[in-house]
Amino acid sequence: MLVLKDVHARYGAITALRGISIEVQEGELVALLGVNGAGKSTTLATIAGVLRPWQGEIQFQGKSILGKTPEQIARLGIALVPEGREIFPSLTVEENLRLGAFIRKDRTEYRRNLDEVFGLFPVLKERLQQPGGTLSGGEQQQLAIARALMSTPRLLMLDEPSLGLAPALVDQIFDLIVRLHQRGVTILLVEQNADRSLEIVDRAYVLNTGLIESQGTPDQLRTHTDIEGIYMGDKHRANT
Ligand SMILES: Nc1ncnc2c1ncn2[C@@H]1O[C@H](COP(=O)(O)OP(=O)(O)O)[C@@H](O)[C@H]1O
Ligand SMILES: [Mg+2]
Repeated sequence: MLVLKDVHARYGAITALRGISIEVQEGELVALLGVNGAGKSTTLATIAGVLRPWQGEIQFQGKSILGKTPEQIARLGIALVPEGREIFPSLTVEENLRLGAFIRKDRTEYRRNLDEVFGLFPVLKERLQQPGGTLSGGEQQQLAIARALMSTPRLLMLDEPSLGLAPALVDQIFDLIVRLHQRGVTILLVEQNADRSLEIVDRAYVLNTGLIESQGTPDQLRTHTDIEGIYMGDKHRANT
């Protein structure tokens, strides 16, 4: 469904991706793991069309999406929930959700999506008229994911959804990701929490300084990779 081939990206003089190749099949839950600065968010930004790779190829459903605008890519069915759950704090929960559905103009479909989202996030239904900014951190993260789901994406990309959440809320978010996966949503999950991620994903890639250092199923990675290194940022590895 999604294929990245030898993608290079940089911010001015700073090279963030040095040739990464990733595949996500329809229905898969795949994680991108790695320490801070490894290039995880940059990878999502290149897929979403926010950052243009200077080399390499990105295909979605068999077609190149290089050079498309973020809006065109969103219309193809790729939704990104960015790091830091960027909801609109002064808009109500309902208004936030309606913005997520901007691609869907049909009212019936909007209602159906809304009902589905309420099934997954009952708390949002109770708070529809409340400004998004008055929700707790965990609720805001739910709202950010719910907003992305309002567009019925084919591919959902989550950037560190558990970051900064209390342990109980982290559990809720991971449970939610499992439920979405069970419903058949294709998910590319960026996480620093490698242990938790490996419990739920089909496959994972480990990024380090803009390169894929290892990849495989959770079992393969646990056997062959220094999982702790993903947390420690193992400074002994070359940082060039
Ligand atoms: N807007 C930016 N301008 C300059 N450098 C950036 C920018 N965003 C990220 N970087 C750099 O690119 C590299 C990869 O960053 P990022 O993709 O955010 O890593 P991760 O999400 O894995 O923590 C880092 O060295 C980071 O400092
Ligand atoms: Mg990041």
